[in-house]
Formats: sequence, structure tokens, C-alpha cells
Amino acid sequence: MRLTDEEKGMRDGAEGAAVAAAMDLLIRYGGALGAGHLCDVRNVATSMTQPSPVKARLVREGGWDKAFAVISLDSDEDLQVPPMRVATCQLQHGFGADAGAVVPYPAQMIALQGDAEAFYGRHGVNILATCTPYQVGNIPVRGEHIAWMESSAVIYANSVLGARTNCEGTASTGAAALTGKVPCWGNHRDEGRYGTHLIDVQVRVDDFTEWGMLGYFTGGLVGEERPVLAGDLGRPGLAELKHFGAAAATSGGVELYHLPGITPEAPTVEAAFGPAPVPAAVTYGPRERRAVYAGLNSQGTSTHVDFVLLGCPHASVDQIRQAAAALDGRRLSAGTHLWLMVPRALKDVADRSGYTETIERAGGKVLADSCPAMSRAAPPGTRVFATDSAKQAHYLPAILGIEAWFGTLAQCVDAAVTGRWRGELS
Ligand code: F3S
Repeated sequence: MRLTDEEKGMRDGAEGAAVAAAMDLLIRYGGALGAGHLCDVRNVATSMTQPSPVKARLVREGGWDKAFAVISLDSDEDLQVPPMRVATCQLQHGFGADAGAVVPYPAQMIALQGDAEAFYGRHGVNILATCTPYQVGNIPVRGEHIAWMESSAVIYANSVLGARTNCEGTASTGAAALTGKVPCWGNHRDEGRYGTHLIDVQVRVDDFTEWGMLGYFTGGLVGEERPVLAGDLGRPGLAELKHFGAAAATSGGVELYHLPGITPEAPTVEAAFGPAPVPAAVTYGPRERRAVYAGLNSQGTSTHVDFVLLGCPHASVDQIRQAAAALDGRRLSAGTHLWLMVPRALKDVADRSGYTETIERAGGKVLADSCPAMSRAAPPGTRVFATDSAKQAHYLPAILGIEAWFGTLAQCVDAAVTGRWRGELS
């Protein structure tokens, strides 16, 4: 790999042992990928404060410096963590102390996370604590190279914002935060960003649920490739694009898609494919839509709903408003819980706007920092849950061993107030 003089200096220890270990990791990582060089990044989204038993043991053995060296730099050396070199934010992690009375989540993990926040905050990590950092002030611009984790955030950054990132991991983002570098391959390069598949949408897709189902179809069709979608599409907003991308990154491994005339790198279908010819289209029609809906609801048998989960990826402020409006003046069925997952910064907005009070008056909870899939936690005794998120409907049955129903916000709120699933495809 070609290195600049600055990068060679980092590798050789000019900026300390931790930066040298970070550069060594990036060189090894980039070499394995066949990257010719590193690119400069000044925005990292990472997972440093996520608590775990392994992290607890490493902290007991050698403090937070040791935990960072092993987990984020793949190093057994005795290193001291320097301040982050570039803007670095924490994505979602575990639940915090204020959720302790609601969520069955271990007190040791809450305490460990509190210590982690203090340590990494002192080192310049912005504790955004959300899978949607682009909703709370961390918005890279078009063409900017970044190093992000979290599949739903990566696909949003690449596709909607036009920033450039691969789906990084804990170690590569840790190394990027200390160096401002990441291997320049894949989505960082023009040739890695052109479309590979064309999907012709022949049913109207113009609301949150429809965009999620289309995303789930798309990921299942293209896997890790780059879909281009055209046809009977309404104009999506932040929430729809957030749901579409998360679903495509769940049923497949999509990191980048194009919507000609909507997303920034695809003014036309032809432009989305760059120098390659436009391929034959695959149809998304009524039959495919019904199959996606059936698949997402294939893990529900009992219509008795214990738990309703909204806000995956973490809700936008308008989604919080809509949930509050749907619950206003209503009351959850006895024995049914409703959690709405939000970015902590938007919880403050929800509190000040009265949305939290409305949701709590109905019996629901507005929770920040994490989610049931991330923290492997749901209301005690949950056997059947309902959600408006294709991603949670996909993952939570496997993670928690519970049944799932997928539907609209209105259908989920109906389930919360009746304790019954009555959703069906319109
Ligand atoms: Fe976010 Fe959890 Fe969904 S981290 S994307 S709310 S699975």
C-alpha cells in the first residue's frame, strides 16, 4: 500500500504508540482488501462505549486503555489512548440508567457504560448514542469520506447523503478515529458506487410501510450489490428512506442504492449505472409485495400481542409526533407494553413538545440509547411482539425467541390498545 510521509510517520511512532498501532491495523486491513492507499476521513461513527462481559474483564485487568487497545486496535501492547484525531461519535449502545426501571437490562452493564461514556467523552467522543447520527447533528456532506459502522446508518450516509463509507467495524473505526484514515476501497471509489441491478417498481410505494417492504424485497434480491429503483415511487422523506435502507441492509447487505431523481448521485437511471449499460429490470409488483408481507409476518401465530415496538431505526421527531397523535386519549391494553426508540437528543425535543407525556399517559415508554435487538431486552414475559419496522421483525424473533407481527403504525397502535393483532395487507 502506498503511504504518504504523514502516514509513514504515524506508522513509525511519530505520534505515539497508540496511533502507530492504529496505523499498523489499517495497513494490515487495507492490504487484505487490496486497497492501494488510505483516504482521509474526518467523521467516524463507532461503538466504543457498548458494554459487554469481555469489555468488563479487560477493564478489570488493565483499565479502559487496555480495553481500547485489545478491542479497537487489535493490540496487546500497553497503550495510552490519545484524544480522537477527528470528529468521532458513539452510535447506539446499551440502555442507560434512566431506562433501568423499565427495561430488564443488567445494572452492571449500565454502570460499565456510564464509566465508558466518561472515559471516551474525555477523549473527544461525542456520545450521540443513536443508530441515526445523521438525525442529531452529525451530517457528512456529499463526497466526504467517512468511517461509519451500523448498517442502517451506512446505507443512509452513502445513498441519501452521498457521503462515502464502507460498513466498518469496531477495530477499523477505532483506528480511523486515532488517525483520520481508512483504506480507500469499495464505496470510497467512483467505480464502487455505480448501480448493479435495476428494479422496476410497479405498485405504488408512497408511505413508510411500503418503503420498508420495498427495502426488504430489494435486499433479498441484490444481496450486497447496488440496486437502482425506478417506477411508481412517491417522494420519500427522511423516515421512509431510513426504513427503506435499514430493511435493504437487513434482508441483504446493501450499503448503497440509487433512486433516480431523488438520491444525489443518480440524476437519471443511466447516470446511476455510470459507464455500464442499464441492465434488464426485475419487477416489484403486487405478487412480490404480497410475498414480502407474508415473509415478514411468517413468524407470528398467536394474535395475542404482549409488546409493541416502534422506532427502528431510532425515530425521527415527526415519527414521535405521529406516535403521540395515534396514542392520544387512548390506553394500552392491560399486559401490553409499547416502547418507542428515539435518539436521546430527540427525546429532549419530545419531552419539550409534550409528545412523551402523551405517550406515557397512554401507558407507553419513550426510550433512548439502544433498542431490544441491540440490548437483547424486551418487557418480561414477552412472547409476541408487533412492530412497524421490517428490521426488527426480521431480527427480534431470532434474538429473543419471540413471535413477530409487522404492519403500519396504526395497526401497531391498535395492537397496543386491544392486545390483539388485527393487521392485514391493504
Ligand atoms: Fe437502531 Fe436497533 Fe434498529 S440499533 S437500526 S433501533 S435494530
